Amino acid sequence: MNTETTKIKSLLKTLSRIHSSLNIEEVLENSLREIVNLIGSETGSIWEIDEKKQELFFRSIIGTAAPVLKNKRLKIGEGIAGMVAATGKSLIINDVKKSKQWKEEFDRESDFKTKNLLNFPLTSGEKVIGVIQLLNKKEGFTNQDLRLLSILGAPISIALENAKLYTRIKKIFKETSLSLATAIEKRDPYTGGHTKRVLTYSSIIGKSLGLADAELEQLELSAILHDIGKIGIPDAILRKKELLNEEERKIIEKHPLIGAEIVMEIEGMEKILGGIKYHHERCNGSGYPEGLSCNKIPLFAKIIAVADVFDALTTERPYKKAMSFEEALIYLWEKKGTEFWPPAIKALKEELNSQVLQYI
Ligand SMILES: [Fe+2]
Repeated sequence: MNTETTKIKSLLKTLSRIHSSLNIEEVLENSLREIVNLIGSETGSIWEIDEKKQELFFRSIIGTAAPVLKNKRLKIGEGIAGMVAATGKSLIINDVKKSKQWKEEFDRESDFKTKNLLNFPLTSGEKVIGVIQLLNKKEGFTNQDLRLLSILGAPISIALENAKLYTRIKKIFKETSLSLATAIEKRDPYTGGHTKRVLTYSSIIGKSLGLADAELEQLELSAILHDIGKIGIPDAILRKKELLNEEERKIIEKHPLIGAEIVMEIEGMEKILGGIKYHHERCNGSGYPEGLSCNKIPLFAKIIAVADVFDALTTERPYKKAMSFEEALIYLWEKKGTEFWPPAIKALKEELNSQVLQYI
């Protein structure tokens, strides 16, 4: 491994260690479950304040309504949680029907029946950073419950602050990886913006295929770093305008293996490895480095392969013109099953039709 490759490896290693050492989401959800048990309510949630948008969103939500409600937002001042966020005062409502602030639509949409509520503001110093909300206690909520929450509120507020920090770290990790990949990409003057676009297309395909949030994050990181191994390819080959000869082609085809070597031993990066190592494999076994067939190629690699080729086809290079999105999709579709994984092409096509890409 050359010096540049080793440097990149240790940089990624440091970033990944910070990234994987925090499991705050879990801490927050477990704390919420414990409080729900302790106070004896049916369920509960932790709202966080999005300061930019002046809204509240669910940082943690448990119970049967969670899947339907998890993406809901409230303006500060809106609804009961919004009001508690605005005033910073805790609130017990033992008959929601009598409350003007109660947003009944949440119950309607989630097929849940809220009877009573306890709301407690989570603070950092003087500032309200979130609201803990407990729902449905058989005998109704009491001031005793509020006293208990005033003790438990402090560690939960700290956990929430950490969770906010965790989100920022994840964002910074992604952005740093993207800058790193973009810096490497800049060595090749003809592929400007390629990494970012492969990230966008991969992400669109992953979302359309219904990947869970955590998996989607890993796919995105894999897409960002898919060509990181090009750091080990000499400039004379990488920057060559003319078509490569056989020997040069063999050298450039080493980049997935070099990339895999860089991330291989980094803790927390195991899951993204497949997308880097196998993004040039093809379904009929004609790809490299191992000539795997479709069922052996990891999911991320099959998605990134479609995103990668789609971008190569739709951008201009010194030796070829750019295809239109439609022409590129037809090209990929003609090679479905032989070279590319059909569900990934289908997903991209559907999203293009729904015009998501006009915003890119
Ligand atoms: Fe590549």
